[in-house]
Amino acid sequence: MTSPVTRRALFGITAATIGSLALTRTPVFAAPRPGQLYRAPGLQEANAWDQIALQPLHYAYDALEPHIDRQTMEIHHGKHHQAYIDNLAKIVDANPVIRDLDPWAVMTDSTLVPEEVRAGVRNNIGGYANHAFFWNLMTPNSLDPSAELVAAIEDSFGSIEDMQAAVNDAGLKRFGSGWVWLVVQNDHLAVVSTPNQDNPLMDLGADIPILGIDVWEHAYYLNYQNRRADYLTAWWNVIDWYTVSTSFETATTSPRT
Ligand SMILES: [Fe+2]
Repeated sequence: MTSPVTRRALFGITAATIGSLALTRTPVFAAPRPGQLYRAPGLQEANAWDQIALQPLHYAYDALEPHIDRQTMEIHHGKHHQAYIDNLAKIVDANPVIRDLDPWAVMTDSTLVPEEVRAGVRNNIGGYANHAFFWNLMTPNSLDPSAELVAAIEDSFGSIEDMQAAVNDAGLKRFGSGWVWLVVQNDHLAVVSTPNQDNPLMDLGADIPILGIDVWEHAYYLNYQNRRADYLTAWWNVIDWYTVSTSFETATTSPRT
């Protein structure tokens, strides 16, 4: 993993300089290469269903305390995420026609699979991908966002604080279970939310997620009970701006595929 010093040098920015940055370039928004953003093994390779597996976290279960507690992380990662993987594998094993398809194609267009298993595939491949994405968006050693990302956030929302307020508001308004996302949308950044384990790439969506927060109760209930707002506020203390910044760079510089 890149050391904090290297990361900071890479982006050449400190907290003191964030406020003075201005949008200095017009991003070229383009579709990312499949899988680059999600960092989910098996998702981007052809017919790689057997590579879909639970990956270890790059931090300890208690590393995000007090914001995200150890027990929540243990259950969320070891039980919930594992369950999506296991359930997906059962469906794929029982439906060989799915094995001939690419996982990325299936996630982004669930109409490719038989209708009788479509909901199960959609929920579980989404659950696999979204959580793999989510773990890498958190860190006990949060640094600063890249200058390019800060400029884009300020251009689209006014400030980082305004962006965070928009994300928190959308997360609070998501009825039931789902996710809230910061996405690259055409030539700007936007906030969207999705139900269940859906994500902005499903149904051949054009929005490219660079940040996603799980607002299922299983993500926060042990520590925050029904206080989703408190969870969302606390979550920003563990954001991995390095990952978000590199995802933004990928989303805005990758050639169309
Ligand atoms: Fe979750």
